[in-house]
Parts: sequence; structure tokens; C-alpha cells
Amino acid sequence: MDTSQLLKLLDGSAQLEVDGQNMNLPVVKASRGPDGVFVSELHNDKYIMLDPGFFTTAQCESKITFIDGENSVLTYRGYPIEQLAQHSTFLEVAYLLLYGRLPSQDEFSNFKDEINHLTLVGEDFRSYLGTFPQNLRTMPTLSASICALENFTQKTSDIKDPKQVDLATKIIMAKVRTITSFIHRRRLNEPLLYPDYSRGYIDDFLRMCFAVPYERFDSNPLFVEALDKLLILQADHEQNCSTSVVRIVGSANASLYASVAAGVNALSGPLHGGANEAALLQLERIRQYVVEKNGTVRDFIENAKKDGKKLSGFGHRVYKSHDPRATIAKSYAKRIFESGTGSLDLFNIALELEDIATNDDYFKERRLYPNIDFWTGLIYHAIGFDSTMFTTIFALGRIPGWIANWREMHENPMSKIGRPRQIYTGETERDYIPIGER
Ligand code: SDX
Repeated sequence: MDTSQLLKLLDGSAQLEVDGQNMNLPVVKASRGPDGVFVSELHNDKYIMLDPGFFTTAQCESKITFIDGENSVLTYRGYPIEQLAQHSTFLEVAYLLLYGRLPSQDEFSNFKDEINHLTLVGEDFRSYLGTFPQNLRTMPTLSASICALENFTQKTSDIKDPKQVDLATKIIMAKVRTITSFIHRRRLNEPLLYPDYSRGYIDDFLRMCFAVPYERFDSNPLFVEALDKLLILQADHEQNCSTSVVRIVGSANASLYASVAAGVNALSGPLHGGANEAALLQLERIRQYVVEKNGTVRDFIENAKKDGKKLSGFGHRVYKSHDPRATIAKSYAKRIFESGTGSLDLFNIALELEDIATNDDYFKERRLYPNIDFWTGLIYHAIGFDSTMFTTIFALGRIPGWIANWREMHENPMSKIGRPRQIYTGETERDYIPIGER
């Protein structure tokens, strides 16, 4: 959409008066949620907008995902997350996010086949992966491997060639699954397994992670279903920290691989995707506190509040009501633990923590609810993953959302290199003093 098209969305204007100067600013009409005041025209170097953390600043117009944080609404391309989680699969949702519509049966079969047959990584890439130490750090390894993938994959880096962008999209979707399984196995000093094209995306991912070479491996169907749904829930989420990073790195015309790798690095932070690992470790600390110090979950919360510590897995920048994804993730955690797998005591501690915190005035006043990361770690742990793997699985889910945003940005002729301004509050100009005179 170019400026003239964007300005067609204009509906009225906003008045800004500063120092007696009146400014008429166009308003960009949203189809859902808040309209936008188009401030780029303020580019007069007298006033610029300051909004640390971008609480009320949009970096783009987008048609991919919509969140209404007041009413616990999340839609991908207009479809409610609850319906997608109930009826769809991760690969179908990836298609929806990337291409803007649900696929026909033939389109979907071709998409699945293409991705499936790109799962294998070459022997030279396997050798590269093998150079990582057994005690590797998972997210830096994932990020480095996605960057390295570009070296091992020819003719998929030209961001102006739609065919190369589409092939790079499918290569990253396919091979990040293999790389993630490798990262899990390298930490166990086990060999990377080759894909089995006859199995589904999630089923074969679990086989590549947990199978013993040459032995039959049957995934637990509940684990396959739960992981497929969790990847749907994590596939996209408007302009969160990592998606914003993918857009801004991509806005410099960096390759899709470099942009996605940057998103992995942003997601690794414990305030963002790293919260799922922190949330499970938090439950284990509470269990240890209860067992060894005869403490209670309520004491743990009171101590956290007293020490100004944030509860991992709680709170959200946008959701000021419950996170609709958390509701669905919690239902799968319940089913898994009721089926007799996983650590029931950790799940019960999570239920007690949720109950006490959501009825505590401190959390209620700040509208803090459990977010999706509060429950996903419990499920990954029950499936058999070490907590260091949790955020890499979140990244596997977020890949289609990151790429859909990157592609949308490049398809928008209005897009420019991202270069935020600043408010300078440092020293005014002063002269250099030679060291002998200081
Ligand atoms: C994800 O953006 C996305 O969409 C992200 C994500 C996605 O799908 O991409 O949804 C994935 O990152 C989910 C969030 C995972 N992070 C955590 O669970 C970490 C714990 N949560 C917090 O760090 C925090 O809630 C954030 C980072 C999620 C949001 O932070 P904000 O919006 O910047 O809010 P804030 O830190 O300014 O907090 C506002 C108040 C503060 O208290 P006061 O200074 O007003 O007294 O709420 C308090 C905070 O101290 N607060 C918490 C808290 N989170 C906020 N207090 C206790 N425990 C918490 N978890």
C-alpha cells in the first residue's frame, strides 16, 4: 500500500496543538481496534513523538493478526484463535498467516509436501551442527544455525525475487524443525535423526527428538495433538518484541534468514519467549520451597511482591484480561496430567499459583493474568523436553508469523528502513580539552 492508498484510509483528522501551533494530522482508519494518528508529517524536527516501549505507537499497518487485550480476542487473518485451535493444524495456520487465506485441499497437500521434502539438512550442514559442544546454549545455537543455513542453501537470498523468498520461507519452516530436534539430541549426546516423510510435521518432529535409531517410535497421540495446538497458539501475535525485530532487521533489506535469526535472539529474553523456561523453573523452585522449607505458594508470592520480583508467566503488555491462548494451553496441560503423564505436583502448584495470584489485589490492580508461557513449559516438560528447549519450540511455532510480517513489510511500497528518532537530553556543545589541561 503506498502513501496515497494509506491516505485513502484516512477518516477525518486529529488536531495537535503545541506552543500555540495547530497541526492537522491525518487519521488512518482501522478495521478493528484503535485508529492511527499519522504523525510522520510532523517530521519538522521541532517535535517528535516519545513513547518508550511503544505502548501507544504503531510501527506499521498490518492485516495479519489482531488482538483486543481488553476482551481477550486474538484472530489470525480474521479467524478467532479458539476456532483455529479447535479445527485447524499448525501447517494450515502457517499457510493462512503466510498467504492470507485458508488453502484448498490441493494447495494444502502441495504445501505440506514441499515443506516435508525440505526437512532433510545436507551432510555438510550436519557437520557444521556437529561442531557445537554438548552443553550448547539452545537459542544462540538456533539463531546461529538459521544464519548458517543461508550459506548451505543457494539461490534463496534475493529478497526482491518472490520465488526465492517463497523457497526460503519453506526451507526455514522445514529445517528449523530438524535443527531444533538436533539441538535437543546434541545436548543428550545422541545422533541427529533423518526425517521420515511418511509422518506428519509434529509426529516426525517428536520422532526425530525422542526415537532410538532404527527402533520403531510411536508418538503419544495426545502429545502430537497438544504440540500442534501450542504451535498454532504461538504462531503470531501482532508486533511483539521479536516480530518487531524481524521487521526492523528486514527493513534494511537483510535476508529472510538474517531477519528470522534476529527474531530468535529477541525471543530468547526471559521477559519474552524465555518466560516459558523461567516459569517452569519458578514452579520447581516453589516445589523445593514447599518441600524443603515447609513454605507455601502464598508465601512465595508474598516474598516475590516484597522483593519486587515478577512472576514468570504472568502479565502482558496487551492482554489486560486473560490471554485466550493460556486458556487453551491450560486445557491441554490438564488433559496431559490427567492422562497420568508429567509431573502432577508441578501442575497442582501451577493451579494454586494461578488461583492465589489472580485473586491477589496486587495482581488484580495491575490486571496481571497468566500468559501462554505460564502453561506451555509444563506441557513441553511432560512431553520430555528439558527446560532449555522450551523457547526453541516457541520459536518453531513463531516462524510463520515472523515470516508473514517480514513478507507483508516488503510487499508494502510505503515501507522504509526502520530508524526511530530520539529526544536528546545530553550535554550541549562543548570544546575538547587536551589531556594535559584537564
Ligand atoms: C510473551 O508481546 C507479546 O505479544 C509477547 C508474547 C508473544 O506471543 O509474542 O505474548 C509472548 O512474551 C508473553 C510474556 C512473557 N513474559 C513473562 O511472563 C515475564 C513476566 N511478565 C512481565 O515481565 C511483564 O508482564 C511483561 C514484560 C510481559 C509486560 O511488561 P509491561 O507491559 O512493560 O508492564 P510493566 O513491566 O511496566 O508492569 C506494569 C506493572 C509494574 O508494577 P508497577 O511498577 O506499576 O508497580 O505490573 C507489574 C510491574 O512490576 N508486573 C508484574 C508482572 N508483570 C508486570 N508484577 C509481578 N509479576 C509480573 N509478572
